[in-house]
Amino acid sequence: MKINSNFLNLKDSYLFATVGRKTTAFKAAHPEKKVIRLSIGDVTRPLAPVVIEAMHRAVDDMSRKETFKGYGPDQYCYGYETLIDSIKGSYARKGVSLESGEVFISDGAKSDLGNILDLFAPENTVLVPDPVYPVYVDTNVMAGRKILYADANLENGFLPMPDFSVDADIIYLCSPNNPTGAAYTKEQLKEWVKYAREKDAVLLYDAAYEYFITDPALARSIYQIEGAKECAIEFCSYSKTAGFTGVRCGYTVVPQALIREGTSLNKLWARRQSTKFNGVSYITQMGAAAVFTEEGEKQISENLGYYRENAKIIANCLDELGIFYTGGKNSPYIWLKCPNEMDSWQFFDYLLENANVVGTPGSGFGKNGEGFFRLTAFGTKEDTLEACSRIRALLLK
Ligand code: MLT
Repeated sequence: MKINSNFLNLKDSYLFATVGRKTTAFKAAHPEKKVIRLSIGDVTRPLAPVVIEAMHRAVDDMSRKETFKGYGPDQYCYGYETLIDSIKGSYARKGVSLESGEVFISDGAKSDLGNILDLFAPENTVLVPDPVYPVYVDTNVMAGRKILYADANLENGFLPMPDFSVDADIIYLCSPNNPTGAAYTKEQLKEWVKYAREKDAVLLYDAAYEYFITDPALARSIYQIEGAKECAIEFCSYSKTAGFTGVRCGYTVVPQALIREGTSLNKLWARRQSTKFNGVSYITQMGAAAVFTEEGEKQISENLGYYRENAKIIANCLDELGIFYTGGKNSPYIWLKCPNEMDSWQFFDYLLENANVVGTPGSGFGKNGEGFFRLTAFGTKEDTLEACSRIRALLLK
């Protein structure tokens, strides 16, 4: 047998695994120090009460033979209609109308972003912004695809625009962006939709952070742009929106209008999912179905407000220190320029050793991330305040 030797072209370890290993080693060497993690974007607020109540009810359903559930309904690849309807409702409030068969429930955006590649031939060329969420690059390296990069930098506000002289078949966009926090306006996305249509390409649009958007000029969904249903797949998640990082639930929209080489990508995805996936647990789906109810939206917006407040605390600290940053406004990530000309990993070590605060080195997201650093607003308020006071004390020295 032969292994998939493309794996040998990957970096030794996944970015957040490297950060985790370094943090664990530091803690083992300094057990007396309280290390604050503002690195991986993992949430700290408990689930909303409506979600918990719905999950309790679902557990009770599982305890009675009359209401017990086995596999989910196969009509929508094991997604329950109540959940799909609530997602359609959330889209309708953004002015986007979807059919039930266009919404696929999964265990999160990360899995779907990787798995969607089953639909595309290995010889396709991929275009990703740099810096970027490492999953887009690593999953394509595993498949041996050619990858092109669109530079995201200070000059373009970390929002690269399409270069029509470059040909690409699969394009990744993430807005609000991970890691930079920058978010595209509807006007800017029109250009990307135009580009994808002109190249007969498919846009893979990661909207995992869309619930952090407050500015109405910014797009909440790629389908707010005319013509996007013919060229884009959208990935969403309950992780950051509703605190589901430990529960696992997401949804992907593959429009019926998305046809390539005379074949419906919706049909291909349904075929792929029904073959390789058995759906998300009933209890999880019932919890998720409570998120986009009126009460659910009210409750999750309290948690989103809490994280926005953390972002403001970090931003104020950086303002005081005169450190350049982007993000933090329509995004839970703050992307800052490393002080004193340090490179990303130097600043990571400096901060870990001297302030016992962990962030994510920008260079881990791509070459344009070198010299930058990402902090997350998903920590507790207490930790965020404490981390900022340590950073302030260290950098004012
Ligand atoms: C991040 O920190 O970039 C995210 O938490 C990673 C993820 O969502 O998989």
